[in-house]
Amino acid sequence: MKIIAGSSSPTLAKNLSKELKVGIADISIKRFPDGECYVKLNDKTNHAIIIQSTYPDENIIELFLLQDAVSRIASRIDVIIPYYGYGRQDKIFEDGEAISAEKMARLIEQDANSVIIVNPHKEHILNFFSIEAKICDGVPAIAEHFKGKVDAVIAPDKGALEMAKKASSIIGCDYNHFEKTRISSSEVTMEVKDMDVKGKKLLIIDDIISTGGTMAKAVEILRSQQAGEIYVACIHGLFIGNADERILKAGCKEIVATDTFETSYSKVSVAGEIAKLLKY
Ligand code: R5P
Repeated sequence: MKIIAGSSSPTLAKNLSKELKVGIADISIKRFPDGECYVKLNDKTNHAIIIQSTYPDENIIELFLLQDAVSRIASRIDVIIPYYGYGRQDKIFEDGEAISAEKMARLIEQDANSVIIVNPHKEHILNFFSIEAKICDGVPAIAEHFKGKVDAVIAPDKGALEMAKKASSIIGCDYNHFEKTRISSSEVTMEVKDMDVKGKKLLIIDDIISTGGTMAKAVEILRSQQAGEIYVACIHGLFIGNADERILKAGCKEIVATDTFETSYSKVSVAGEIAKLLKY
């Protein structure tokens, strides 16, 4: 068995290699002058665990080429997708749209026996696969990091409530979520109901930080309500543009993300949780 580390996740691949005590295959990945991708396996294996996110776009093609190369020599391929890019378009919102999350599944399953996705935006994405598909949950890794540090976990919206609930049960603290109330077509208020946040140490948790707008707003509101230290955590920290600066400037003490998208904020690893799902 070998781990095939795609360009998106070298650190996560190393962490998983340590957890599983499985070596990382020698591969060459290059780009031609026109940007096209070239991959070559310099190793042999009958069972490959490929780790590669479907974000940004160039990593998708690299994943397909890695799968193709591996499928020519291996009899089993498990694909780990740390960040399932294109997962947010998971249904038809308006006539004429594509369902990108489904299309991605169709393409990935062509050269795979199983897939593990770390916190997909919606769980029903698994139903798009006709091969064995599992979710790896990065919340426990984040919660362990915050044990003893916070008094409550807050979800920035109802969509993240289950994450907040799970994190709070591991940390052993309270949880709540922001309620959005539409005042007019352009004005929305956000508040945490039924909780006095004054002086409390709070962790705001979400699946994705993209532009940082959601988190910055949540931090700003909690600060205006005299919350104590405010921490922000997410599974997939994309930090588009100056997302991190926006959140820190709003009054956040520390930003923590996992290693599904590798940045300087990737302070916790999901490798342990992935390893638990890869029981051979
Ligand atoms: C939305 O459904 C997601 O859970 C995140 O709240 C969202 O993607 C965050 O985006 P941004 O950082 O751009 O506010």
